[in-house]
Amino acid sequence: MQETISPERIQAEIQKRRTFGIISHPDAGKTTLTEKFLLFGGVLQQAGAIRGKKADRHAKSDWMGVERERGISVTSSVMQFPYQGYEVNLLDTPGHKDFSEDTYRVLTAVDSALMVLDGAKGVESQTEKLMQVCRMRSLPIMTFINKLDRECRDPLELLDEIENVLGIQAVPLTWPIGMGKTFQGVYDLLRGEIRFFHSVGGKGTRPETTRVIDDLQDRALDELIGSGAAEELRQSVELLNGAGYPFDNRAYLQGRQTPVFFGSAVNNFGVQELLDTFVRLAPSPRGRETETREIASDEPEFSGVVFKIQANMDPAHRDRIAFLRVCSGMMHKGMRVRHHRMNRNMDLSRAIIFMARDRSGAEEAWPGDIIGLPNHGTLKIGDTLSHKEELKIKGVPSFAPELFRRVILKDPFRAKQLEKGLFQLTEEGAIQLFRPVMSNDYILGAAGALQFDVTADRLRTEYGVEATYEPVSAYALRWIHSEDSRILQQFRQRHQRQLVEDAQGRPAVFFSSSWWMERTLEDWPSITFSKTMEN
Ligand code: G4P
Repeated sequence: MQETISPERIQAEIQKRRTFGIISHPDAGKTTLTEKFLLFGGVLQQAGAIRGKKADRHAKSDWMGVERERGISVTSSVMQFPYQGYEVNLLDTPGHKDFSEDTYRVLTAVDSALMVLDGAKGVESQTEKLMQVCRMRSLPIMTFINKLDRECRDPLELLDEIENVLGIQAVPLTWPIGMGKTFQGVYDLLRGEIRFFHSVGGKGTRPETTRVIDDLQDRALDELIGSGAAEELRQSVELLNGAGYPFDNRAYLQGRQTPVFFGSAVNNFGVQELLDTFVRLAPSPRGRETETREIASDEPEFSGVVFKIQANMDPAHRDRIAFLRVCSGMMHKGMRVRHHRMNRNMDLSRAIIFMARDRSGAEEAWPGDIIGLPNHGTLKIGDTLSHKEELKIKGVPSFAPELFRRVILKDPFRAKQLEKGLFQLTEEGAIQLFRPVMSNDYILGAAGALQFDVTADRLRTEYGVEATYEPVSAYALRWIHSEDSRILQQFRQRHQRQLVEDAQGRPAVFFSSSWWMERTLEDWPSITFSKTMEN
């Protein structure tokens, strides 16, 4: 039964929640920063707890590392911690580029993102890709430029790069004083304070002191940081005041401007300022578009959407955990909800609520929270659960894969197991499956080659199927759609050989070259060729 919740209660729960993901190129410092956040949140007692788990840093991918340590996999995907009266949900995003699709989907479940850049490297390829997804959803993004304790690139140049490459205004809220060996701290541009960095060698401590500077022209500044650094700071601030954009909270919330912080995650410098500002400025859980209407997050009735499926800890048991973002209302353990795609009721008695273990109230979840639902394949990515009303929440897409392989089964008597395995792994979002309309082949599509290795490995270990691959020469795949069924039929007849259906039976077409694709797009203007498909 749905409990009646007062509008004030739900508002209060929403206002204090912040759900976000960290995006970064591998090695920029995402794990280190996450760990510091958890220390501030009181969830971790000791630095090194997460990094320790990443001991095999050259493991093929985060995903496989996680697989190997399935015991920690579920909780490490979602971390909830309290901070200054807020409930922060931090969603992990796989760093390896071959698993970027998983990351894209995680980004559909957050309300904002934190971008971590390595100050020596600036914007790297993976960040650029992830930013595109953030932009598709107009996600607010905050930026942390990390590793200032090392020689970094010129801060102004870094801001320029963010603007030019990522197409978003970069507005520094702190400014570094020196870097590398001469790194002294940061100047807080809003508060007019200098925060000193004292490297004491102890990682995880917070070695800093603060001095308020009323007037940068004051000679006391020279004494404080040395006249060279003082002069440089004055010039930079003057330049920023003259040529930079003023910080505009609305522009941040609309994803047009990113506030920028400088610091050093490993030394825990600048991290607390970042977190303080983050909880203050980042948006609380927003509503969601559905196929019929928009859900506001403060509606009393429960709704949620599955954005990720993860194989469960024990490979021998094929149960899986579906990660669901609560979009509206309250969820409590044991509650009955409607699973619309399957047209049946589900009871949420086995729901896992990700909360620091020793806190009370861990039996319920609110908008912005993520819950884990163990299941045997009843839930797949994109499924909507709600109290009653038939809803289909939009915005959890599949992206057209870029690499393709034909599956070759070694033992033909295992065909049934192969089919089962492929369909289940597809539902998890681990890989995409396509069936040509002219043959019985299975064609797998992925964003990165590692996904094929992982799939073959899982087919062997979890389904007892030995499979190999053959290359498929395809340049691209696009889903096809048209309002005009006659035209679509004509197209299908003309291009039968290139036509495939995805695991849900939706038609798509393979193109062998860019030239061929361009020509086809021109020849068939009333057909939509999509690179993304709603789940
Ligand atoms: P990732 O999750 O984004 O892949 O990055 P991660 O936090 O694992 O950090 C990558 C490397 O960068 C680690 O070094 C980490 O210690 C280092 N690092 C993180 N923040 C800072 C910083 O502020 N300054 C400096 N100088 N280094 C930083 P590693 O050598 O790969 O690992 P480890 O031996 O330190 O564990």
